[in-house]
Amino acid sequence: KVNYLKDYQTPAFTVDSVFLEFLLQPEATQVTNRMQIGRLRAGDLWLDGESLDLLSVHLDGEDVTSQCRVEETGLSLSTDKEQFELEIVTRINPEKNTALEGLYRTSGNYCTQCEAEGFRKITYFFDRPDVLSVFTTKVVADKSQNRYLLANGNLTESGDLPNGQHYAVWQDPFKKPCYLFALVAGNLEKISDTFRTQDGRDVALEIYVEPRNIDKCEHAMESLKRSMAWDESRFGLIYDLDIYMIVAVDDFNMGAMENKGLNVFNSKFVLAKPESATDVDYEGIEAVIGHEYFHNWTGNRVTCRDWFQLTLKEGLTVFRDQEFTADMLSPAVKRIEDVKRLRSNQFPEDAGPMSHPIQPQSYIEMNNFYTMTVYEKGAEVVRLYHTLLGEGGFRKGMDLYFERHDGQAVTVQDFRNAMADANGVDLQQMHNWYVQSGTPVLKIESEYDAQMQTLTVNCEQSLPETEDFKPLLIPIGFGMLNSEGHSLQLQPIESHLQTVELRSETNAVLKMTKAQQQFVFNGVQTQPILSLLRGFSAPVKLSYDYSDQELALLASADEDSFVRWEAMQTLLLRTVQAKVAALKSVEEYAVPQLLVDTAEKLLLDHSLDPALVAMSLTLPELGYIGEQYREVDVDAIHQAHNWLKNGLAQALQDEWRNTYLRMQDDSEYRYDKRQIAERMLKNVALAYLGCLAQHQERVFEQYRAQHNMTDVLAAMKIMLHQGHSQTDQALQDFYQRWRGDNLVIDKWFAMQAETQNETALEKAQSLLSHPDFSLTNPNRVRSLLGVFARLNLVGFHRADGAGYQMVAEQIIKVDELNPQIAARLLGPFTHWKRYDAERQKLMRAALQRILDRDNVSKDVYEIASKSLA
Ligand code: ARG
Ligand code: ZN
Repeated sequence: KVNYLKDYQTPAFTVDSVFLEFLLQPEATQVTNRMQIGRLRAGDLWLDGESLDLLSVHLDGEDVTSQCRVEETGLSLSTDKEQFELEIVTRINPEKNTALEGLYRTSGNYCTQCEAEGFRKITYFFDRPDVLSVFTTKVVADKSQNRYLLANGNLTESGDLPNGQHYAVWQDPFKKPCYLFALVAGNLEKISDTFRTQDGRDVALEIYVEPRNIDKCEHAMESLKRSMAWDESRFGLIYDLDIYMIVAVDDFNMGAMENKGLNVFNSKFVLAKPESATDVDYEGIEAVIGHEYFHNWTGNRVTCRDWFQLTLKEGLTVFRDQEFTADMLSPAVKRIEDVKRLRSNQFPEDAGPMSHPIQPQSYIEMNNFYTMTVYEKGAEVVRLYHTLLGEGGFRKGMDLYFERHDGQAVTVQDFRNAMADANGVDLQQMHNWYVQSGTPVLKIESEYDAQMQTLTVNCEQSLPETEDFKPLLIPIGFGMLNSEGHSLQLQPIESHLQTVELRSETNAVLKMTKAQQQFVFNGVQTQPILSLLRGFSAPVKLSYDYSDQELALLASADEDSFVRWEAMQTLLLRTVQAKVAALKSVEEYAVPQLLVDTAEKLLLDHSLDPALVAMSLTLPELGYIGEQYREVDVDAIHQAHNWLKNGLAQALQDEWRNTYLRMQDDSEYRYDKRQIAERMLKNVALAYLGCLAQHQERVFEQYRAQHNMTDVLAAMKIMLHQGHSQTDQALQDFYQRWRGDNLVIDKWFAMQAETQNETALEKAQSLLSHPDFSLTNPNRVRSLLGVFARLNLVGFHRADGAGYQMVAEQIIKVDELNPQIAARLLGPFTHWKRYDAERQKLMRAALQRILDRDNVSKDVYEIASKSLA
């Protein structure tokens, strides 16, 4: 069944309040659901419900069980009452719930995941985000097995019961849709803290984890306090309940969930200590803790009218968490990280068979639309408002949004109206970003007129796959340099003062609104070098004909760090591409001296942020390189990539060594900007040194020092990639050290799954039968199968199709347990069009095999069938 945005209808009933009682039993939990319902429209009552054992239904106290028509997806009942109480009792089996949606068990504890449509697996309800109710939840369970009984809101009552049972009652005063419901119970341990709000209230903060993890919660707690303080100071948004709880569980389909007052997290985004977590993990935790916290306003207090509006809360909240991380660490570094993520994950999605606008128009399974497009491109679109309106204007828009819509379920149009009205501007054109899919191409050409001293910038936008395309509002960050690398003053001609907004003397935003548009500058004394799309001011593919010399200049001199990084990356990319071409024609090709000189300049300029140097000198990812081709030649790209890495290693040996030594720091691990940046550059230098036989020992030494997980993991990946002789020894040592620590063992699986060589597939296959591998734990599945299929191009795309076969077989197994995770694993198969005819055939056959099963889930069905169509 397909759901369409155009079919949206307002709800026929309200549920003003709901009382839920859970009698928790691992295999037979009884749920009593008492709703106070009001009618808004004539008609029968329909309640969503799936996989429920219906025990009884009472309408205003009268047993109407036999009058209910129970179907596979819900229950209907005829009544013409205007206002009534409906009490439904159902039974569910949390222990057998391997889909991890609804109420399920993880490590012997109970927890829930309701977004998007999991509440219907707990009880019959109006499982749609525009029905908002006040929830009261009573949890009853065995006390020895369930020390804590948690639900949304504030604890109002608790106590002991006969037969070793106890209970707790939680009341959430804020109206919410059922997707924000949560319940947790089990023998957890907690750490506690408090946060004093701007308006002087003390909020209790609690993080619950399995007892063995209690020493790994501190960073999460600090992150939570920083999030709360940041949302107050940046957006004036204050927390609203007396308590904020976070629970970390090992089995979780996504990253985390913003249930009101009771977030449930994948333990990956809570647990950390320096010995076992990397800088990337620390940053991920801070960002996701922030993200879920920020949802309290953007998502919970103001929620979505329907699931087609998902980007309303997710795009906005990702934008907010990006800004948070930028403020905590480095805005320049964060921006580049986000652009990389967008390009290597969202751009391919936008170019493939699952391409959809940030506001999809239809879906079969909503869980399939928690995508890079809805989240990350959605955040880029929110950033466009921010770029166009500035920080002050954006804040005005946010304030008006909350003033108008607090307590409501609204649409992306409501958000846009608030932004527009608060600033007295027309933003209707922004609509086009919401309804058109695909990555826009921005083609720019420039003309310099030496006599008139003018520079004309000709811009043209297009959406390659879209007929009848509607022009987008594209802000283009812009500057000009002279040949010495100095910024030039910008003087737009009189008639362009409306469309060229000066942010400083040397920095402007060109506001493009038409399919083709011209911007002209006066007083340009010499042929300038253009700095384009500064800050990656819009999620587009820029096409501009730079010379290598211009890129080299931008890489070392532009005032915008994104442009500098981008210029260096383009030089590296061009070199790999030239080598790929040379490999095919068996020509000689050497690493260009200009590239080596530019890289050297960056390494020798100690005034630069080491993180920016590190990111600039990291080769573009294989996936991103592949994106540049109509047909991806996996082997040639892999070979050219290694060749360039070795070439730069050799050409700059001394600089890598000096950099490595200069970035050494034996002081205690801290999660701070300077240390992170230095570790990043140190490990990039080590990766180059690892290519050189005489430096191998250094890599193993760094492993043995066990200084922190960032350094340990970096060393291990280098050893694996280069096939150093001590690799097996290190792998075994690592495993012995960390067996039992799930998150670290995930890394152990992932680094092996990622390693590309002739035996990559055999390695992955042997890991499938490792005793620590499990098909029911999403993190473990992602570490082995997800990483292998997505990143191990050589192994997955093996010419004989054995890689496809292996992954397909496992996807079929996962689909019987957890359809959401199975559907995610399909991603790499959907891009079959990008490979040669033989591989296309093999990939399609694998998809067909996955699809042709009697019990295929709708999650997998939707993705497999759409990508074969
Ligand atoms: N709202 C959550 C977040 O972004 C994601 C939960 C999605 N879960 C799912 N099963 N679709 O923070
Ligand atoms: Zn979110």
